[in-house]
Amino acid sequence: MQYKRCDQSAAWGALSQYFAEHGAAFDLRTAFAQEPQRFAHWSVQAPSVFADLSKNRIDKPAMELLLALARDCGLESQRNDLLQGAPINLTEGRAVLHTALRSPAGADAWSAEVQGALQTMLAFAEQVRDQAASGIRDVVHIGIGGSDLGPAMVVQALQPYGRPGLKLHFVSNVDGHDLAPLLRELSPATTLFIVASKTFTTQETLANALAAKAWFEAAGGSDIARHFVATTTNTAAAGQFGITRTFGFWDWVGGRYSLWSVIGLPIAIAIGADNFRALLAGAHAMDQHFATAPLERNLPVLMGLIDVWYRNFHGFTSRSVAPYHQGLRRLPAYLQQLEMESNGKSVDRDGEPLSVATSPVVWGEAGTNGQHAYFQMLHQGTDVIPVEFICVRTPRYGEHVPPAVVERLRDQHRKLLANCLAQSQALMQGKRFEEALGERAPTASQTMAPEAIARHRSFPGNRPSTTLVLEELSPESLGALIALYEHRVFVTGALWGINSYDQWGVELGKALCNSLLPRLETGDTKGLDASTAGLLKHLQS
Ligand code: F6P
Repeated sequence: MQYKRCDQSAAWGALSQYFAEHGAAFDLRTAFAQEPQRFAHWSVQAPSVFADLSKNRIDKPAMELLLALARDCGLESQRNDLLQGAPINLTEGRAVLHTALRSPAGADAWSAEVQGALQTMLAFAEQVRDQAASGIRDVVHIGIGGSDLGPAMVVQALQPYGRPGLKLHFVSNVDGHDLAPLLRELSPATTLFIVASKTFTTQETLANALAAKAWFEAAGGSDIARHFVATTTNTAAAGQFGITRTFGFWDWVGGRYSLWSVIGLPIAIAIGADNFRALLAGAHAMDQHFATAPLERNLPVLMGLIDVWYRNFHGFTSRSVAPYHQGLRRLPAYLQQLEMESNGKSVDRDGEPLSVATSPVVWGEAGTNGQHAYFQMLHQGTDVIPVEFICVRTPRYGEHVPPAVVERLRDQHRKLLANCLAQSQALMQGKRFEEALGERAPTASQTMAPEAIARHRSFPGNRPSTTLVLEELSPESLGALIALYEHRVFVTGALWGINSYDQWGVELGKALCNSLLPRLETGDTKGLDASTAGLLKHLQS
């Protein structure tokens, strides 16, 4: 089925006009003063995730036009194509079915094979967790990109659900400085290596797996079959590598959407089968919301539409993610791949050049750390960067923390939440020159003119943000949060008319790397550009 691209819709022109007449000059402070119901109107309770969208530079008429745009581009049928397994990844001729991985048993045509693979994977995870029988103390997960970021982020986020005495480690970089320090901690008899690669051809992963195998043998390890397993769609290649225990999955699971598949094995080992199922259930609840909620109350749709409004009309080039939970510190890195590898494209599904901007830069850091690094620029820099705050109402520190310390940590949690609210408030409110002039800043210079100091101490305000609130950071809520982001990426990709599920942009570098690799040994610079040749000579060992 052919769908209209956003820029081919009549609603696009109407949005441009509305932006010029009202959108560009929109001021959040005026909007809150004029609309007593603004918070209620712009907040949405989706499964496990409460979203406050009210601090965004958006009003009802703009959203109505964006919803008209979504309808005109067939967003609902595009969503149905996704969920029903149509081959929407056109350049690879594949369906995109990560949602089937979290559907309840018997729900769809893929259920039998999905449930079979899930049960086998969970049973193995439980065997590993039975440490009296397995003897495993360390699990080393070797993978990169989608075969690393999701599992690493989730295991870190759900650390309080982990088992003391069972450590999970993640090795991704081809740089030996990733693996080497870890080897000092390991003993072959108590270590399980998981080699995770959808294709089982990825240079970094295979290099690290070979080094791990060499270490295992050199350190006196025996029984590779018991200590190395693989999660892959290419079980034959894993077999050739010498791994006999493999957990397979399917080409219709995209790498960056694969944590729900057997690629999630380290998650299952860390948190156990029941919690892994809760993660899937949380994501499924968000899938249901995305599939059935009317567009105007559908959180991934609303967030995706605001993204289009910001990227294509306001011209904002990046978005900052600020999770106010230390467990979510890898979320920005995970979201970078999810969003930028999915939507960092400049041609449409048919390969025609796009005339609109696509993926923004996504970046961030856990709060409050980010406040002491780059928030200065968010508040007073020349670019407007929408910020996404994520906070968790109820903390969970783990059984090992004594009650007296828990009290202190709870107090710290209130400080964390106050910081989170203060940042979005400051971004929105700003501080007028007159206000700054009326204040006496104790650390300000006594010799500089008060007006100049006040200009340094003024904030423009009207800087937009979204705040997402989870009741607690649990397998269920994390599953829902990740699924929310996945669907939001789908929404923007669908409106821009791009294929969000391929990643040809990473191929050229891989090919050039393969041709440069032997030259680093031989020093052959024939045919290279002068810069690459000069650097190669400089680096050659
Ligand atoms: O970086 C490109 C990429 O193909 C990602 O899309 C993927 O997640 C990653 O490499 C790892 O691929 P594989 O799981 O096949 O090793």
